[in-house]
Amino acid sequence: MKKQVLALLLACTMTAALSACSGGQEADTEEGSDASQTEEDEDAAQAEESQEVLVMATNAEFPPYEYYDGGEIVGIDAEIAAAIAENLGMTLEIEDMAFDSIVTSVATGKADMGVAGMTVTEDRLENVNFTDPYATATQVVILREDSEIADTDGLEGKTVGVQLGTTGDLFAEDIPDVTVERYNKGFEAVQALSQGKIDAVIIDQEPAKVFVEENEGLKILDEAYTVEEYAIAVAKDNTELLEQINGALAELKESGKLDEIIGKYITAE
Ligand code: ARG
Repeated sequence: MKKQVLALLLACTMTAALSACSGGQEADTEEGSDASQTEEDEDAAQAEESQEVLVMATNAEFPPYEYYDGGEIVGIDAEIAAAIAENLGMTLEIEDMAFDSIVTSVATGKADMGVAGMTVTEDRLENVNFTDPYATATQVVILREDSEIADTDGLEGKTVGVQLGTTGDLFAEDIPDVTVERYNKGFEAVQALSQGKIDAVIIDQEPAKVFVEENEGLKILDEAYTVEEYAIAVAKDNTELLEQINGALAELKESGKLDEIIGKYITAE
């Protein structure tokens, strides 16, 4: 993030003569009646311009947490991240990538944080730190409506689709005699299921609900795998940001804003 601020500053210095940066125009009118007010505006505008950028890595194939609405990435995580950035006085920038690239991207400092309905796991904790959790989730099984599979034991020996590198992928691996088909997007696994290419999909519950709603002839098995917690991934050496985000999250929880965001996308049954 530091580099981006530098670049911004540099760009401002270079274009200052052309008044392209904030304040330039106001500066011209400073002799007007309300000079101090103008100065304040100028300071505010400058503060905005020099705000540090907070880069969020995500995989926007995961409704209702992150998905495209037209060209824009929206969803619970996008809104939580925006609220955190606002709280920290930073400018949010979202980078969409493959889900299994997010941890590396954060660990190597390419992105500042990973916000992707990402479950806290022992494996991931070896490479990144996680903030306090902001949601709980479970893995569920999606089946075709006419499927004979009645419980998770019934997945034995079947072909199960998952999104590559997710906790669903981990659960699927542990099923005896299973064949795991890994897709880049959860939605692709669901399509394969609809087309009869695979027997089941293991994925997080909320996206499962969205996918089943959008595709006819599918159902969710009435039995869930263990409870997981979603949290935000931050580089191990960036404990300052970790604390800042935890502070912001605490405020969002306290003020009811977090519940408000989640309630906008998930209706309680
Ligand atoms: N909760 C699961 C995991 O952490 C799936 C997350 C997938 N998220 C996404 N944005 N595609 O592995």
